[in-house]
Amino acid sequence: MHTSLKEGLQFLINNYGAIILSSLIAIGIAVLLRQKGDDRRSGGIPGKLGIPLLGETFSFLASTNSTKGCYDFVRQRRMRHGNWFKTRILGRVHVFVPSVEGAKTIFANDFVLFNKGYLKSMADAVGKKSLLSVPQEIHQRIRGLLSDPFSMNSVSKFIPKFDSELCERLKRLEEEGKSFRVLEFTMKDLTSKERLMQVAFDGICDMLLSITDASTLGQLERDITAVADSMLSFPIMIPGTRYYKGMKARERVMKTFKAMISKRRSREEAPDDFLQSMLQRDLYPPNEKLDDEEILDNLLTLIIAGQSTTAAAIMWCVKFLDDNREVQDRLREEQLSILGNKPAGTLLKYEDLMNMSYASKVVKETLRMSNVLLWYPRVALDNCTIEGYEIKKGWNVNIDATHIHYDPAIYENPMYFKPSRFDEMQKPYSYIPFGSGPRTCLGINMAKVTMLVFLHRLTSGYTWTVDNQDLSLERKAHIPRLQSGCPITLQRLDNRNA
Ligand code: HEM
Ligand SMILES: *[C@@H]1O[C@H](CO)[C@@H](O)[C@H](O)[C@H]1NC(C)=O
Ligand SMILES: *[C@@H]1O[C@H](CO)[C@@H](O)[C@H](O)[C@H]1NC(C)=O
Ligand SMILES: *[C@@H]1O[C@H](CO)[C@@H](O)[C@H](O)[C@H]1NC(C)=O
Repeated sequence: MHTSLKEGLQFLINNYGAIILSSLIAIGIAVLLRQKGDDRRSGGIPGKLGIPLLGETFSFLASTNSTKGCYDFVRQRRMRHGNWFKTRILGRVHVFVPSVEGAKTIFANDFVLFNKGYLKSMADAVGKKSLLSVPQEIHQRIRGLLSDPFSMNSVSKFIPKFDSELCERLKRLEEEGKSFRVLEFTMKDLTSKERLMQVAFDGICDMLLSITDASTLGQLERDITAVADSMLSFPIMIPGTRYYKGMKARERVMKTFKAMISKRRSREEAPDDFLQSMLQRDLYPPNEKLDDEEILDNLLTLIIAGQSTTAAAIMWCVKFLDDNREVQDRLREEQLSILGNKPAGTLLKYEDLMNMSYASKVVKETLRMSNVLLWYPRVALDNCTIEGYEIKKGWNVNIDATHIHYDPAIYENPMYFKPSRFDEMQKPYSYIPFGSGPRTCLGINMAKVTMLVFLHRLTSGYTWTVDNQDLSLERKAHIPRLQSGCPITLQRLDNRNA
């Protein structure tokens, strides 16, 4: 008991030094004043706010540090209080919004009645000009300028490039015959050989910046992971802290990006990629292009937002297909027929993906079940009510996508992996793995293309065994991932079409 409390405190101090200090002072004050729980005072939503500032922070951190994952915190409170509940984490009241109606209200009023909360560490990490930090008008302008490079038309140009890289990597992995983790998220220095499964990260860097060199990719990945880790840290520049490491890594990433931009401007290089499409606008009027700071901050943002999400989704897809062999067989049948319709050895094109109707449903079902982003946080900008529940100005409202995706009233037998459930259309706001409204995921097309190409090559070329069936989740991760990383061994499929 004592040791775990001590460890808990140490954990808090490492991560949230100053917050813990102010929390402790607040506990003191609270004890002195013998405050009653404020359940009754706060507008109808059940739940425990606990002591001021600290609230249920310890329970939340304990769930985050467990192998059940941080959503267990939400699950437990919902069992206790019902679907609508509130809690207090690190000084802020959070309401977990469980309904389609609630999701609709918040998405439809994004930027107006609700906004992303401001976190200094996050703004410092992704930058002032990032889509995640800028106010509404600038956000609209940047999104407008990015919509073409992220359209299906532009993304589809990247299909053959990604496909050939993937074919090569799967072939080498099979030839080595070793078990490898589908999700390689360790921080060790990966040599080019070990980067084989970094398809999500390398794919995004290739599409945005045409980086293919393994050592540059390795350095960039280490730095960008450090930046991503600093997004939720305490913003204080003391060497050794996560924030400090993140800021130093950000400087290195920016230096790399800037060097690439000047090479392109001096015409040393002109590959056809996202960065080039931005620089082609150099002579356009200011409102029709991104300035350099906007390009830099958003390059970083895109990589951070795109790579760990896609990597986790791919990992869950491999796991679900292993657990559901009928689905895997049916998917393989579709993919072999697509392979059989093409001349041997040709790369995939956009038109081939259009023929992957079952695979698209496998992707959809994977995103429904895996809930890579568990909930989408917003802050209420004013007092308001959602479905009759009173929300106070300044409260966090979290759109609980996970709860909506597991709602048996919307998805029959929700824990059952069944892609054919998407034969039917979904009602608005009941399927939201990419969010909705003005902040809808910018990378939808890219994520789908990446997953479809991966599924095609995996199932039409190989069978696999999952070498570790442990279901424990990685600790302290905000994205649910298997602690094991889902290690698999590939066997080449003996097919006549290959
Ligand atoms: C399976 C993979 C992915 C999933 C599940 C996913 C999910 C999401 C979700 C739910 C949001 C909205 C969050 C909110 O409303 O608070 C979002 C935003 C975003 N995503 Fe994705 N994403 C994925 C892949 C990607 C990729 C590949 C990219 C880009 C290369 C990307 C770029 C972004 C960006 C830039 C935003 C912020 C948009 C804005 O605020 O305007 N995502 N994503
Ligand atoms: C996290 O969990 C592990 C394993 O149960 C435990 O050893 C460790 O002390 C925990 N850390 C914190 C800060 O609670
Ligand atoms: C899609 O599939 C059909 C029938 O299986 C085939 O005739 C057609 O050529 C395919 N389209 C493409 C673009 O491969
Ligand atoms: C919000 O409601 C509370 C009482 O519930 C009131 O004290 C406060 O002034 C209101 N704030 C605004 C901005 O209307």
